[in-house]
Amino acid sequence: MRQVASIFDPVSTPAAEIYTLSLLVLGICAAIFIVVGALLVYSIVRFRQRPEHDDTEPPQIYGSNPIELAWTVVPLLIISVLFLVSTRTLLAVQKALPPPGTLHVTVIGHQWWWEFRYPDLGVVTANELHVPVSSAGDRRPTFLRLESADVAHSFWVPQLNGKTDLIPNRVNTMWIEPMRPGLFLGQCAEYCGTQHAHMLLRVIAHPRAEFDAWVAEQRAAAVADASVAAGRSLFQSVACINCHRVDGTVADGVFGPDLTHLMSRDTIGAGVAANNAANLRAWVKNPDDLKVGALMPAMKLKDAEIDQIVAYLATLK
Ligand code: CUA
Repeated sequence: MRQVASIFDPVSTPAAEIYTLSLLVLGICAAIFIVVGALLVYSIVRFRQRPEHDDTEPPQIYGSNPIELAWTVVPLLIISVLFLVSTRTLLAVQKALPPPGTLHVTVIGHQWWWEFRYPDLGVVTANELHVPVSSAGDRRPTFLRLESADVAHSFWVPQLNGKTDLIPNRVNTMWIEPMRPGLFLGQCAEYCGTQHAHMLLRVIAHPRAEFDAWVAEQRAAAVADASVAAGRSLFQSVACINCHRVDGTVADGVFGPDLTHLMSRDTIGAGVAANNAANLRAWVKNPDDLKVGALMPAMKLKDAEIDQIVAYLATLK
């Protein structure tokens, strides 16, 4: 599904605050532009050089208190309004305190994917952030704690809030509060290496019951399906386990995305491809084919082995 990620269609409280402010600033600047432009055009036309040579000087005026006052007081008023409104928005967006019912998520930027940890819920996932929808009567914002595992990244979902960087050895915070359900797209907004452009973000806002169902699904134990035992043991015998984690197996790596509920995600490779059997197979065979420069190496597995591993991965619901 292609969707426009526009700052002009805010669906989240902080994004709406920023949007309203930007309209006001744009309006004031447009008014100034029109007044100055109109005066300029008037002067150009009214005082243009005329064919009949008139060598007399126009009246020379020295000092005018009303004019001096006007061009000092009017800009001062405009600046004061902009300053006060900007400060109000800044405080509303950056100093907001989490109300009761807030969901807390730790976002960790990696080259080139997003890790989402829900410390209060015991859920870990990647690239697709699931959050509840908020309403005026039942506020359920999500406060994000932003960290980086390697270099600087930036979390940006235009419809939900402005950008905030993820800086190594530093914690930044931001929050989102979608007011209607839906899928909201974003992407890393700080150059972070080869695949910066393919470090995509998907935020899925659910009605309360749907969100609770998603959480329950994520907390469920990984399925041990006997029909894929061969793929399961192969997976656990190769280097996959050094980087990936699958709950209930020896795989406990943290360098790559947690795969416990891999199939609950719509995309792989941080949004570069749909999560289906063909793409999963291509990815396991050689991630570089889908995402040039991906840090996951091609494991040099035989076709039959890839089939076994993909069959196993497909059961990680
Ligand atoms: Cu991460 Cu750009």
